[in-house]
Amino acid sequence: MSLSFKQNRALVTGASSGIGEALAIALADQGSDLVLTARRADRLQALAERLSAKVTVSVIPADLSTETGVSHLIERLEAQASSIDILVNCAGVAATGWFVEDVARQQALMYLNMTAPVRLMHHCLPAMKAKGSGRILNVCSIAGFQPVPRMAQYAATKAYLISLTEALSEELKGTGISVTALCPGVTQTESVVPEIVEALPDFFIDTPEAVARHALSAMARGEVVCIPGQLNQAAMTLGRLQPRRLIRSLGGLAARLSS
Ligand SMILES: NC(=O)c1ccc[n+]([C@@H]2O[C@H](COP(=O)([O-])OP(=O)(O)OC[C@H]3O[C@@H](n4cnc5c(N)ncnc54)[C@H](OP(=O)(O)O)[C@@H]3O)[C@@H](O)[C@H]2O)c1
Repeated sequence: MSLSFKQNRALVTGASSGIGEALAIALADQGSDLVLTARRADRLQALAERLSAKVTVSVIPADLSTETGVSHLIERLEAQASSIDILVNCAGVAATGWFVEDVARQQALMYLNMTAPVRLMHHCLPAMKAKGSGRILNVCSIAGFQPVPRMAQYAATKAYLISLTEALSEELKGTGISVTALCPGVTQTESVVPEIVEALPDFFIDTPEAVARHALSAMARGEVVCIPGQLNQAAMTLGRLQPRRLIRSLGGLAARLSS
C-alpha cells in the first residue's frame, strides 16, 4: 500500500508543539493541506503562517479533553467544504501520580487520549470509505505495551488506542484505508520533564522530527504498529518475552522508589 501525501488534506490534533507540530511540518513538506488543532491558538496561527507558503492551512482551536471542545471541532470541520484524507490523532497528555489522586485530571486525560480520537475517527471514516482511500495515524506510546504504576491511566489509554488501532486495521482491510499506531519512546518535547532527559543517555531520546519521519513512512507503507528506533523495538521485544508478573513487579518497584 502506498500513499502520495500531495493534494491530500490532513487534520492534525496536538499541532501546537512537539510530535504533532513535527508531523504537521513533515506533512506540509510532502504537500498535504492542513487543518491544525490544539488549545493554544497563537502557536497554531504562527505555524499556519509559516507553512502557508507551501500548502493551504486552516486553524481550529479546541479543548479536546471535553465533549464541548470535540463537538466544536467536528462542527467546524462539517462547515468546511472538503473532507479529511489523513487523520492524525496526536493530542495527548501524560500524568504521573497514584491512581487514587486527582481524579478530575484523570477523567480529562481519558477523554483526550481515548474518546477524542474515537470521535474523530467516527467523523472521518464515512467520507474516507466513500472515497475508497484514507490514512489514520493514532499516536500511542511504548508505555501502552505494559502496565506502568504511577502512570497507570496514561499507559492504559495508550494500550486502549493500540488495541483499537490493530482491530480497526483488520476491519478496514480492502477499503483503501490504513490505520497506524505510532508508539514512540522517550521523545524530547515539552511534555517530558527535563530531569528525565538529563538522566537518560542521548541514544535513548528521540527528536520529534525523527519520530515524524518514521510515522510518515509507516503511514505510506500502511504499517499497523510503528515503534520508532531500534532500541525501543528491542526493549519491547524483550519485554514481551518476560513473564507479565515480572514486568508488573518491576514497574511497581520503580514507582515506589521514585515516589
Ligand atoms: N514525548 C514523549 O516522550 C512521548 C512518548 C510517547 C508518546 N507520546 C505521545 O505523543 C503525543 C504528543 O505529545 P508530545 O510529547 O509531543 O507533547 P507536547 O509537546 O506537550 O504536545 C502535546 C500536544 O497535545 C495538545 N493538547 C494537550 N492537551 C490538550 C487538550 N486538552 N485539548 C487539545 N489539545 C491538547 C497540546 O496543545 P495545547 O497545549 O496547545 O492544547 C500539544 O499540541 C501525545 O499523545 C503523547 O502521549 C509522547
